Amino acid sequence: MTYKIAVIGAGHNAEGHLKAMRELRERLKPVAVADIRLDRAELLSEAAGIAAYTDYREMVMREKPDIVVITLPHHLHKEAAIFCAEAGCHVLLEKPMALNVQECNEIMDAVRHSSVRLMVGHTQHFLAENLLAKKLIKDESEQLGQLVMMNDTRHTTYYTAERPAWFLDKQRSGGGILFNLGSHSVDRIMWFGNAPIVKVRASISHYGAVGDVEGSGVIFLENERGVPSTIVQSGYGGVPRNELELVFTNGMVKVVPGQGVWVSRNGVYEQIPIPRVEAPFVLQFRELLASMEEEREPQCSMGYSREVIAVLEGIYRSHELKSEMIVREVHRR
Ligand SMILES: NC(=O)c1ccc[n+]([C@@H]2O[C@H](COP(=O)([O-])OP(=O)(O)OC[C@H]3O[C@@H](n4cnc5c(N)ncnc54)[C@H](O)[C@@H]3O)[C@@H](O)[C@H]2O)c1
Repeated sequence: MTYKIAVIGAGHNAEGHLKAMRELRERLKPVAVADIRLDRAELLSEAAGIAAYTDYREMVMREKPDIVVITLPHHLHKEAAIFCAEAGCHVLLEKPMALNVQECNEIMDAVRHSSVRLMVGHTQHFLAENLLAKKLIKDESEQLGQLVMMNDTRHTTYYTAERPAWFLDKQRSGGGILFNLGSHSVDRIMWFGNAPIVKVRASISHYGAVGDVEGSGVIFLENERGVPSTIVQSGYGGVPRNELELVFTNGMVKVVPGQGVWVSRNGVYEQIPIPRVEAPFVLQFRELLASMEEEREPQCSMGYSREVIAVLEGIYRSHELKSEMIVREVHRR
C-alpha cells in the first residue's frame, strides 16, 4: 500500500525526510509541504513536484495526508502533533517530543483518542553503527559480561551563524545543547541500557554569547538496573566528539556514529566492519509503516519518548536545585 505523506516545517531537517520518501516511493507519496516561510516551502515543494502551503492546518485539511512529518521548532511540536492526530493523520514527530512532560501527556491523550500512530524521530535507533553495536552486545553478551557503565560524550560548536535563532531561545527550544543533542544521548543511554533512567544529577553552564540556553553540561545518570552513566557535552567549540563507550566486566564497546564501532575483549580496541544498511530516515519510516500496518506501538513510542523528556526535565531541575532528582518525581510534578 502507498500512503500520502506531507511535511510541516521546511527547514534544515526536512530535506532528509523528503530524500528518504524518494527512496521509499513505492510506499510513500509526498503530497505537500508547509512552512510559514513560503520561500522555504517552495524550495522543497518545487524540487519534489508537490504543493506548498504557509498554513499547515489548511494543508492537512485540503490534502488529507495519511502521514505527516512534523519537523518544527520544539515549542510547536505539541500543537502540530495534536492537530494532525485529531485530523486522523499518523505522525512522525521530530525529537525531542515536546518541551516538557505535561506537553507529552497532552499529545498522548490526543493520539489515544484518534486511531493513529505517533512515532518520535529518535534517529539513533536507525544509525548503522548503533545497530551493529546493539547486535554485537546482544550476540556477545556472555563474553562481554556484565554492563558496568556507559559514558556518552558530545562536543560540537553549537553557537554557529547558521543555527536558527530559536535553538538559542529557551522558550522556543526548551533548552540548549542538552535538550537538542542531549535528547540523543539520553536516548542512547536508555536504549543501550535496556532500562529507564531513575536518577539524575547535573551541572550545566551558560557561557554562550547569544541566547539564554545552556552551552555545556556534565550529567550523572542511573538506570533501573542500577547501571551508572555519564553524559558530557560542550557546545563552546573545541575538538568535535560524538561517542558512546560501554564498559563491561570483560570488555568494552565504543560507538562513534558516522565513523565506526570498536570492541575490546583483551584491553585493545579492534574495529568491526559495518554492514551496509539503508539510511536512518528510510529505516525510521519503515518502522512507522510497520507499526501502522501491524497495529502496534513503534520503536521510539510516545511513552518511551516522554521518558527522554522526563530525564531532560530532571537534568534542568537537578542543576537548579543542586541535588539529585528522582525521574519518577519529575512525572508527578
Ligand atoms: N533527528 C535528527 O537527526 C534531527 C536533525 C536535525 C533536526 N532535528 C529536529 O527537527 C526539528 C526541526 O529542526 P530544523 O533544524 O529543521 O529547524 P529549522 O529552523 O531549520 O526548521 C524549522 C522550520 O519550521 C518553520 N516554521 C516555524 N514556525 C512554523 C509554523 N507555525 N508553521 C510552519 N512552519 C513553521 C520555520 O520557518 C523553519 O523553516 C527539530 O525538532 C529538531 O530538533 C532532528
